[in-house]
Amino acid sequence: MSKDASTRNMDIRHLPETDRELIWHPYTQMKDFEAMSLLFVDRARGVYLYDLDGKRYFDTISSWWCITHGHNHPVIMERIRRQLERLDQVHFAGTTHRGPIELARRLKALLPGRLSKFFFSDNGSTAVEVALKMSFQYWKNLAVDGRELFVSLERGYHGDTLGTMSLGGVPAFEGPFSKLTFDSLRVPAPYCYRCPAGQERYDPVLGRRCNLECFDILERNVRQHARKVCAVVVEPLLMGAGGMVVYPEEYLVRLRGLCDRVGAHLVFDEVATGFGRTGKMFAFEHAGVAPDFLCLSKGITGGALPLAVTVTSRDVFRAFYAEYTEGKTFFHGHTFTANPICSAAALGSLDVFEKEKVLQSLPRKVEFLQEEKKRLLDVPLVGDVRGIGMVAAFELVGDRKKRTPLDPGLRAGWQVYLKGLERGLILRPLSDVIYLFLPLCTTTEQISRLLDRTADTIRQVASMIGY
Ligand SMILES: Cc1ncc(COP(=O)(O)O)c(C=O)c1O
Repeated sequence: MSKDASTRNMDIRHLPETDRELIWHPYTQMKDFEAMSLLFVDRARGVYLYDLDGKRYFDTISSWWCITHGHNHPVIMERIRRQLERLDQVHFAGTTHRGPIELARRLKALLPGRLSKFFFSDNGSTAVEVALKMSFQYWKNLAVDGRELFVSLERGYHGDTLGTMSLGGVPAFEGPFSKLTFDSLRVPAPYCYRCPAGQERYDPVLGRRCNLECFDILERNVRQHARKVCAVVVEPLLMGAGGMVVYPEEYLVRLRGLCDRVGAHLVFDEVATGFGRTGKMFAFEHAGVAPDFLCLSKGITGGALPLAVTVTSRDVFRAFYAEYTEGKTFFHGHTFTANPICSAAALGSLDVFEKEKVLQSLPRKVEFLQEEKKRLLDVPLVGDVRGIGMVAAFELVGDRKKRTPLDPGLRAGWQVYLKGLERGLILRPLSDVIYLFLPLCTTTEQISRLLDRTADTIRQVASMIGY
């Protein structure tokens, strides 16, 4: 007679079975795991995850894009240990504590002068949600009528809360909830592989330059509603969940100019791109323009613990600073806002950036990855190869000349994931886009081997599905 999960002895061999019985995993069709087990991760170190049998897997997606310096980095772990002795948690209204103060001070030193007020929360969705609500209320507090429209990009992704989904541009994620979300203006993405303006690829190396006609589409849309736009929200340079779409810096330069001209806020969602992933501390640095709101999370703690911050300007802050009775207070907050242990982890991650000269070590690795990734253009199914910083993506297609997507029923990306696991790689795809989103500590030797193994895995799947 089989015991049920609540009475069964928590013997480690039973854990996968108990998981199947009790747990519902995120972004997962649980039926896929009817006949197979989830990967049971028992421990991690550096760039590797280890299963119960001690088999190791390269964490090529940095555990959903947050691990910065590898897992269990001793400097971060030590900061956490020390903090545990002192203060575990305290609400952040009417109280304060060391971690977030020190963190705000150190982050401010890394940011342009305009970004000088820090509002903490605890995950990426809330970091963006805070920016949306602050921007929206800013106009109300200033008694400006009608600025209520948010503009974002198709293929954009900003989180899973209703507010952030209202701006999201990935239909598979937001579709079922369309009646619950508010109206926003989504414009075609600067997706060079399938240019919305029908242009050739923007290629600064080969000198084939379009004139960013994709930006003209955005500009036309924004100008049409100029006095209604509250904020334009984008993931700068790299649109992650929408398929690791990389777009030119010039787009951001023009976007900053446009927002200034129409008087709208500009929000950069750097939840995924922040903290070195694009080769600079923040992606917007490539373009040399600053937003009115900067949303940070994931890598802020080196990926060890959840924390987020929305950084804005004194101008925005001043619009809320008034006598209480004026009703301008920002009524928003989360229980674990600026949690002391998470803040300590974030300070530890900044220590690692400094001590290990992480940013200085990146250009060589980035150049290597961005050059070597092109090898995969010869691999069957690979239609496009793109990347920035420590990110490289390979879009699989059915017909390379016509850029025709693969039949979704083949689930090619999923097959690559399964075959990758056999080879000790976590190649969790975004539909049929396979990508590496690497911890910053990955070495060039590891990058080289990873690219070989990724190519072999895709080749294997190509032949399995008859290509
Ligand atoms: C750009 C971006 N914004 C926001 C989010 C949401 O972050 P979280 O999953 O922590 O809510 C993500 C998550 O992947 C993201 O990539």
